[in-house]
Amino acid sequence: MPPCVCRAAAVTKQVVWRSLVVGSLSIGNVAFGWGIKDKIVSRSRTCTFAFTSHLPFSGSRTASICRMLHYKARGLDDAVEKLSYPGSEVKRAHVPDEHVKFDKPWSDYQPVEYTATSVLAGPVWADSQDASTISFNKIDGKIDRQSFTGEYKIDKETGRPLNPVGRTGMTGRGLLGRWGPNHAADPIVTRFLEGKLQFIAIKRKDGGGWAIPGGMVEAGETVSLTLKREFGEEAMDLNSKSKEEADKIMAKIDEMFAHGIEIFKGYVDDPRNTDNAWMETVAMNFHVDDSIAAEIKLEAGDDAGAVCWMDIVPDLKLYASHKSIIEEAAKKHGVVL
Ligand code: BGC
Repeated sequence: MPPCVCRAAAVTKQVVWRSLVVGSLSIGNVAFGWGIKDKIVSRSRTCTFAFTSHLPFSGSRTASICRMLHYKARGLDDAVEKLSYPGSEVKRAHVPDEHVKFDKPWSDYQPVEYTATSVLAGPVWADSQDASTISFNKIDGKIDRQSFTGEYKIDKETGRPLNPVGRTGMTGRGLLGRWGPNHAADPIVTRFLEGKLQFIAIKRKDGGGWAIPGGMVEAGETVSLTLKREFGEEAMDLNSKSKEEADKIMAKIDEMFAHGIEIFKGYVDDPRNTDNAWMETVAMNFHVDDSIAAEIKLEAGDDAGAVCWMDIVPDLKLYASHKSIIEEAAKKHGVVL
């Protein structure tokens, strides 16, 4: 597929304030993928939170997993209550905002139990159905079961980990393979074209729409390798190439990914999350100049149906928390949406 430049139909003129210094920033709200609704969440409570130690923002790094309310993880999208779980007919139980937190008892809570048959079938990337024997909050052999949010709780009755943000209306693992945190990595490759900031976006084949070409960290894999592998597979169709071609592409990716800035590390409000399994990601930005950008031959592969350089504009619609992550990356280049 030839490289394309996507521009959303109703593109609002991109405002590039290159000289703007990004000042006071509520990192927790922004990067956790809060929507408009988050702005009405009380900011009076804070708790220490393992967001990232690398963010170059000055000021407090205390933001809050404890005041966060996930939305997509409760089946709410664009303020519309859909409740249906991705790729299934199963519907979550409704969880009102005031009942999200596990530390506040809710005796009427009746979550729906669901684990997809593809997960129950026991592929290599999935845990066994019995969570009680797993060593949570640790590096467990080749699997990192630690959360960026800190130590998560384990339900005493079931031995299952509890979502650090709170109730989702569903127990089990849904489509996720791991009990507890499921780690992903997201490479954000950006460039300026004619004064407009763009990033490389892929269209997910699972119906999730446009997204950063990220993917799951495999057992024993480092995040930096996941970033390169996922980019190669989804944006440059690495898997369909001969060994020689693949080596050349990987060498280019190695060069391109040599210097990155960490944009986000933490819990993701993902529509696949459940009370016992959730997504976390590390997003890194790799900014390229014209000469390197010209060498990137985009070709969709693996889980991606299409790939393109996409303008970073205010009305971007992206998968899970990706819009917030892209907004955060844009700020690093003086672009405020
Ligand atoms: C995707 C990542 C995403 C993560 C959390 C993964 O399946 O590949 O791009 O950040 O889920 O939503």
